[in-house]
Amino acid sequence: MDRLQKTLVFSCVLFCVFASSLAQDCKNYQFKSNNLFSTCSSLPVQNAFLHWTYHAANHTADIAFRHAGVSSSRWVAWALNVDKSGMLGAQSLVAFTNSSTSAIRAYTSPISAYTTTLAPGKLSFDVPKISAEFSSSGDEIIIFATLNLPSGRTSFNQVWQEGPVQSGAPGAHAQNSANTGSTGTVDFSSGQTSAGGGIGNSKKRKRNVHGVLNTVAWGILLPLGALTARYLKVFKSADPAWFYLHAFCQSSAYIVGVAGWGTGLKLGSDSPGVTYDTHRNIGITLFILGTLQVFALLLRPKKDHKYRLYWNMYHHAVGYTVIALSIVNIFKGFDILDPAKKWKRAYIGVIIFLAAVAAILEALTWIIVLKRKDNESDKYPHGVNGTNGNGNGNGANGYGHGGYRSQAA
Ligand SMILES: *[C@@H]1O[C@H](CO)[C@@H](O)[C@H](O)[C@H]1NC(C)=O
Ligand SMILES: *[C@@H]1O[C@H](CO)[C@@H](O)[C@H](O)[C@H]1NC(C)=O
Repeated sequence: MDRLQKTLVFSCVLFCVFASSLAQDCKNYQFKSNNLFSTCSSLPVQNAFLHWTYHAANHTADIAFRHAGVSSSRWVAWALNVDKSGMLGAQSLVAFTNSSTSAIRAYTSPISAYTTTLAPGKLSFDVPKISAEFSSSGDEIIIFATLNLPSGRTSFNQVWQEGPVQSGAPGAHAQNSANTGSTGTVDFSSGQTSAGGGIGNSKKRKRNVHGVLNTVAWGILLPLGALTARYLKVFKSADPAWFYLHAFCQSSAYIVGVAGWGTGLKLGSDSPGVTYDTHRNIGITLFILGTLQVFALLLRPKKDHKYRLYWNMYHHAVGYTVIALSIVNIFKGFDILDPAKKWKRAYIGVIIFLAAVAAILEALTWIIVLKRKDNESDKYPHGVNGTNGNGNGNGANGYGHGGYRSQAA
């Protein structure tokens, strides 16, 4: 063998030793109690591992969650999030050492608020067996459990965490990237965990793009476009500018909105086993109604056509329904994506602002319309008021305009 070959062989051996020592952490890990699991996943952050055996016959999973590198004064938790992702909704298995008895305690705790102290409680699925042990040699806490998995699927979002025990109960965990990035998916049947173990960065980016596109299009541009139509057309000088502005706002909202809708469909198909039915169904309804509005624009009868009144009623009813549904769905999206609180607050701020502007303009409109009527009845004492169709039409269709305002309240 020449030198090059020797170097290559040596590197291969080194690599194999290195790789198998990594694998040792997971696949070849020896449990004290000699438990054996068929699958193991090394979770991407926090020195944590999930071992499991899935029994298809009774849809149960025997699992061991190992959290290495923690002292006995810490709590650890691992959870499936059945309906959402992230912390809220997490169906958790928790373990920590009781400092007065030094006994380790394992129990279940469903999480419904960020302020949780991980109090014991029943999960949305059965956990017939749960126990924990502390291996002082490796500074490791291990939770063993049997899960009766929620029916109909084997793929779930998972979350794991560790934090301090304060006055006998789990205290808030740190906010480092290892603590906020400890999410991912696990498929008990195929053994797959999502790329990198967590919600990968690219998936996270896609989710954020989806959220931003749809919030801007359906949640901000669309209501703005409705405001321009409703309040600008009172001013005769703004005719037909209001119409072009309205059409421009709504068609750009529609284009951006359809792009955002597409990203939603893609996200849905990329997360098999995780369904957000209501959010998805409202999204599809919105797409259909939005498309109808675009076609309705092309089919609109002339201003003085006898059917124009019905067309207006239809156009307004569908339009305000779309706005109300959009806002509902955006909040549903916030619940699913679970972004930093400031984004939801910012959007609530935008909605309140738009509603306040609408309320002020509504009052002004009525004042202008009533004044104009006054003036016109002065001008035409015999009641010839055929010219005020525009202003009248506006004041008269006050039905349903509360749609977006009541949402904000
Ligand atoms: C489920 O099935 C497995 C293997 O068939 C068995 O070992 C296990 O005890 C069963 N679990 C329950 C909770 O019935
Ligand atoms: C710790 O153990 C003591 C004695 O058994 C018990 O009274 C206490 O409630 C336990 N604390 C916790 C947090 O479980």
